[in-house]
Amino acid sequence: MEFSIKAGTPEKLRSGCIAVGVIDARKLTPAAAALDKAAKGYLAEILRRGDLDAKAGATLALHNVPGTACERVLLVSLGKEAELSDKDFRGAIGATAKALAAGGAKDAVICFADHPVTGRDARWNARQAAMLLADSTYRYDATKSKKDENRRGPAKVTLLVGEKTDLAAARSGMAQGQALAGGMALTKELGNLPANICTPTYLAQQAKALGKSHKLKVDVLDRAQMEKLGMGSLLSVAAGSAQPPKLIIMKYEGAAKKGARPVVLVGKGITFDTGGISIKPAAEMDEMKYDMCGAASVFGTLKAVATMGLPLNVIGIVPATENMPGGRATKPGDIVTSMSGQTIEILNTDAEGRLILCDALTYAERFNPDCVIDIATLTGACIIALGAIPSGLMANDDDLAAELLARGQESGDRAWQLPLWDDYQDMLKSNFADMPNIGSKGAGTITAACFLARFTGKYKWAHLDIAGTAWKSGGEKGATGRPVPLLTQFLLGRAKAA
Ligand code: BES
Ligand code: MN
Ligand code: ZN
Repeated sequence: MEFSIKAGTPEKLRSGCIAVGVIDARKLTPAAAALDKAAKGYLAEILRRGDLDAKAGATLALHNVPGTACERVLLVSLGKEAELSDKDFRGAIGATAKALAAGGAKDAVICFADHPVTGRDARWNARQAAMLLADSTYRYDATKSKKDENRRGPAKVTLLVGEKTDLAAARSGMAQGQALAGGMALTKELGNLPANICTPTYLAQQAKALGKSHKLKVDVLDRAQMEKLGMGSLLSVAAGSAQPPKLIIMKYEGAAKKGARPVVLVGKGITFDTGGISIKPAAEMDEMKYDMCGAASVFGTLKAVATMGLPLNVIGIVPATENMPGGRATKPGDIVTSMSGQTIEILNTDAEGRLILCDALTYAERFNPDCVIDIATLTGACIIALGAIPSGLMANDDDLAAELLARGQESGDRAWQLPLWDDYQDMLKSNFADMPNIGSKGAGTITAACFLARFTGKYKWAHLDIAGTAWKSGGEKGATGRPVPLLTQFLLGRAKAA
């Protein structure tokens, strides 16, 4: 999908489809009114009959509207109020994307993407619109013998803005939205690929490819190098697998000042989680190919940030391995020594995410990070607590947590904070090592974060549990590309401050 932006009114535009907004089922937005005037009241008359539902996101497609130069007019409900909520704006754009994909227009003009949204500006509107429209064109077909021939919507989309003075901000927002969707597409693709293709070695190759195309410095450490570093915890997860583990480091250096402290993103890269010897039940185990979605979000965010050319330093660290049972696999009760020197009694080999993350988090210290954010499909308990709406957020720094919560709201990719109080640390006690890898009963999402907190004392740190948000199950099974919008918005905010 190609994007462009223009200022003006739509009535003289030649296009396959012109989408205009309607408030409260009857009231024409300025662009709709201009079109209606050219059509001598044709649109207003149809609306008077009550053919368009007032609910934001309802649409009505009209053909051969008199007095216009376009093939189709799409009326889009923006809800009842003149000022939109984030949700209604996103709903209206999403419905437009759907209608455009179902219709035959080769190009389209969207005239309501500049409609006032409470507390937002022209840049936000254009960024959200471009992101949602571009993201709606993603299809998975890498492992299908025939490509998905379903229409992906028009090849060209123009965002029409009413005010010339908004043009520059909207243009920059539009470019950001496209870059964001490009990052999300990579995250979705890596997540959706099956585990027999998307192995740790494959992820390392993809990192090198991303490094080439987007000017990142990429290092890949192998098992021997990790052994030298003392990453006994990470390697204990890889012990049962025939696939060699990898530690992938990707550096984006965009800061004006060379030594500027980086934001470090650490992504859980379990390319398949069987549970190990503490093996998982068979039902839906295929979905554990998604257990590298934290890693995939690091790839996608770096791609988006590099495309935008943000003036920041960002480092991605991805510990990648399978979690398999086998003759060499780690057994419940085994004790390992992490890179930090702390010993861990592995009471459940299915709590493997924290075991690979803790060594990656210790490794992150060497970059003198401004802050570290880890992203992980870490606990089923997070799905029980929060469902699929927000990601779980825990942090050792309240300002960092507040910043992430705000950026989540702004991006539409929200997080919700859970407490990381010291009291919970009492739930991690071992008679035989410094700590066990699982907590006592209850608060599974928090005790997992408490475990990680024991490896993040040297910097500001936040943890995103994306078990509920990284992919969808059921008929629409597939990776969502989250939390790339949240992470990218966070970095956009940091870039603005820098
Ligand atoms: N990858 C899973 C978490 C998960 C489960 C994400 C289901 C999405 C859907 C993780 O490695 C895991 O198995 N966690 C265990 C931890 C437990 C053994 C303490 C869990 O959540 O059951
Ligand atoms: Mn597991
Ligand atoms: Zn896992």
